[in-house]
Amino acid sequence: MTNDALAQHLSGLSVRLLHRLAKNRLVRHFRMGKTRLIQSLLNLPPEQRAEIETTLTSLLSEPPRPSKPDKQGKSKPQPDAPRHPAPTSRQHQVPTEPAINTQALLEGIGVPQPQPFKPDDWQQDAIDRLATNDVILSVPTGSGKTYVAIEAMRRAIEAERTVIYTSPLKALSNTKLTEFSQLFGADQVGILTGDRRDNPQAPILIMTTEILRNLLYDAASGEIDVRMDTLGLIILDESQFLADAERGVVWEETIIFAPAQSRLLLLSASIGNPEEVAAWISSIRSTSCHLIHHRNRSVPLRAAYLDPSGKLAPFFRTRDIAHGKGFVLHPETKRLFANYEDRTLGPRYKR
Ligand SMILES: Nc1ncnc2c1ncn2[C@@H]1O[C@H](COP(=O)(O)OP(=O)(O)OP(=O)(O)O)[C@@H](O)[C@H]1O
Ligand SMILES: [Mg+2]
Repeated sequence: MTNDALAQHLSGLSVRLLHRLAKNRLVRHFRMGKTRLIQSLLNLPPEQRAEIETTLTSLLSEPPRPSKPDKQGKSKPQPDAPRHPAPTSRQHQVPTEPAINTQALLEGIGVPQPQPFKPDDWQQDAIDRLATNDVILSVPTGSGKTYVAIEAMRRAIEAERTVIYTSPLKALSNTKLTEFSQLFGADQVGILTGDRRDNPQAPILIMTTEILRNLLYDAASGEIDVRMDTLGLIILDESQFLADAERGVVWEETIIFAPAQSRLLLLSASIGNPEEVAAWISSIRSTSCHLIHHRNRSVPLRAAYLDPSGKLAPFFRTRDIAHGKGFVLHPETKRLFANYEDRTLGPRYKR
């Protein structure tokens, strides 16, 4: 079959069937859009290409799948049946008003006028609660979780307790070492990761969550570490990792084995079910876990697409990021990205 003929056949298939052809042949095919799928299938080595042609022939000879009747008893159109020219639901969503331009996207961005620092009510609430409770801080990115962490650390040090701060990444641990050393003094802060071991007797210790879990294992097995008796505060940054399929167990065990007298502070911008997590922590620890959860962004977030050519375009048609379903990409971003695909994947197949 010629390249053009195969491309023609592939373009007539639904994305579902294209994924079926791509299965076990293309890595991460499930992330590709239709155009990239077709291009990637056409670029397969000759052996696999022959298999595609055979599978395609049998797919084309398959009888159409019977459609399930909907609630009104009407049959749905076949996924591979030729589409009627009626607009799709997606087209219905395209707003009629013009999309914003790049200038409108960048409007108002700059350095704000300096103002005296005043903690938000939820920040003060979190700090106060930590005197008696564990706390989950589930608030958006850039809303000021670090302030709560630093104030809680300050209070723990004043009460002559030690602090352990964990992050899931060595790079983030290194950044925090610099940040906390500037605030508390280099002699007050140490770090323990797979690569680094500096000042391990410091009252504030930064480590990866895996290292803390292993320390807690040792303590639980009877090799009591003196630090555990004086440990006043454990901060688990990026605690949405609790839901990670592979590493989540480390966060889970860290919470389970955390000493009873230490307060837990979980920080995250993206825990999907913080109420459930707070209820679980309350059920296994001696004090209840207080949840602070809001979605107010103190710094508005806007999305843009930076093309490798250096052009910047709004990502969405609207300036603010649309939540949930129904967002519409900006036409300029779509155009730039299609050109980018053409340049990197070869000429775009035109139907
Ligand atoms: N109450 C406040 N008023 C004004 N600015 C604040 C307040 N609290 C924190 N900030 C500022 O907001 C910015 C973002 O704070 P921070 O880095 O703590 O966010 P975060 O919640 O930790 O975000 P991320 O999820 O990205 O880690 C910082 O520049 C910080 O100084
Ligand atoms: Mg942060």
